[in-house]
Amino acid sequence: MLELHILPTPERAAWAAADLIVTLSEERTRAQDYFTIALSGGSTPQRLYELLSSESFARRLHCERWHVFWSDERCVPPNHPESNYRLAKESFLDKVSIPSHQVHRMRGELTPKDAAEEYEVALRQEFPSSSPIFDLMLLGMGDDGHTASLFPGTDALHEKRRWVVANWVPLLRAYRITFTLPLINMARVIAFLVTQKSKAELLKQVLEPEEGQELPPAALVRPTEGVVHWFLTAEAASKLHGTSEIEANGEYS
Ligand code: 6PG
Repeated sequence: MLELHILPTPERAAWAAADLIVTLSEERTRAQDYFTIALSGGSTPQRLYELLSSESFARRLHCERWHVFWSDERCVPPNHPESNYRLAKESFLDKVSIPSHQVHRMRGELTPKDAAEEYEVALRQEFPSSSPIFDLMLLGMGDDGHTASLFPGTDALHEKRRWVVANWVPLLRAYRITFTLPLINMARVIAFLVTQKSKAELLKQVLEPEEGQELPPAALVRPTEGVVHWFLTAEAASKLHGTSEIEANGEYS
């Protein structure tokens, strides 16, 4: 199932995503006493993370029961400016009280292969239920339609068995550590946050693909039983059909 939430500004899109996260956290911590979330990287989620640690949301998160993972990481140490962990630490984790043993960092400072293998073991051994079925997986999307670190034309897109792999990305001339589609598509809820106008064309290729068109990686995120929420700005959604009335209402789902 897919739900589009189209908001007039990036701030409103971040608020709407934060509201979903709080709602899911309240539901899951009531039902199972823990909440498993995979954070996304890049720059877009920074405002979302700041909101989650703000007065408006932090009290409702039940953070002490959160188990935090990442859907991908750059092959850099945790204090590197490009580290996805560092982004989340500075904008969120340092301001809330999640027990440290429940925060599972991808160790980008290891060799890519070791970091991926270590994280796969962590998912098997430290995930609070028998299978790593995330209550919520946050994802972003690049201008080329990549998500997590599943870039177009890279090997990781074809991984059918492992949950975490080291993926060589020719475009970046670098390895990335990334969740694979089998793991992503097990999630109960997936939430994309895409706000930039530069992504409008790819968003159309993802959400309204033409017949026979090659699907961008983000379009391969199709959870078997889960729900996919897209939190978009009207600008990012500007090439989707029927978005004209959305701009008037400011919300659509
Ligand atoms: C990463 C991300 C990646 C990101 C997109 C969008 O490590 O870069 O996980 O998938 O979500 O590249 O990045 P921006 O939010 O910076 O546009």
